[in-house]
Amino acid sequence: MSANIRNKVLIIFAHPALYKSRINMELVKEVEGLDGVTFRDLYDEYPDFLIDVKKEQESLRENDLLVLLHPFYWYGCPAIVKEWVDLVLEYGFAYGRGGDALIGKKIMSAIATGGTEDDYKRDGMHYYSVREFLNPFERTATFCGMQYLPPFVVHGAINMKMEDIAVYKSLFGQIIKALRDGEMDLAELQGFKYINDYFLEKYKSWSI
Ligand SMILES: Cc1cc2nc3c(=O)[nH]c(=O)nc-3n(C[C@H](O)[C@H](O)[C@H](O)COP(=O)(O)O)c2cc1C
Repeated sequence: MSANIRNKVLIIFAHPALYKSRINMELVKEVEGLDGVTFRDLYDEYPDFLIDVKKEQESLRENDLLVLLHPFYWYGCPAIVKEWVDLVLEYGFAYGRGGDALIGKKIMSAIATGGTEDDYKRDGMHYYSVREFLNPFERTATFCGMQYLPPFVVHGAINMKMEDIAVYKSLFGQIIKALRDGEMDLAELQGFKYINDYFLEKYKSWSI
């Protein structure tokens, strides 16, 4: 295991039609198998939605950063991610009496959206921002005592060229490694809309 690991990372991934995926498939290839990263594909592991709650809770206990990686579907997440949240973050584990297992852990959404960044503005087609749509995740995290990090967002996913996908793929890998190795100033990061923006600002040699 790499000596630099400061945060053990659990990536919970879901894509209901992975064979059609262009973006998520590439993001997965970049992070699956990294040192200090546990990767779990929910549709692969639980095709009948019978989630092993105790096993998932154990994974959460063992890790410091939870990443929810999925395409943005109907302004939210694929169904199995909601099922996972509903069942795994249960009373007495994630909240309520004795429910302190997640306090101090970090959580980040990593999503691809068909819409462009401009579509997610007041004068755009989706009106609300992605951060606004992700409010249920942010508030759930806060309710459980977790630190919610700005999301990793790939906009304009549908017509994106493979060369641009490759840039996001590499960027995602760099971000996961930087979080794992504790290289990001999390207080400073909170001032950014997306973690992409923070990373690109800090590492100016990068460009999208
Ligand atoms: C059922 C469904 C719902 C979707 N809902 C949204 C949405 O609410 N907002 C959006 O920007 N894109 C939406 N999209 C587009 C997907 O987010 C996009 O195709 C996906 O992120 C691309 O990633 P992939 O190549 O890994 O499939 C939707 C696509 C599908 C199939």
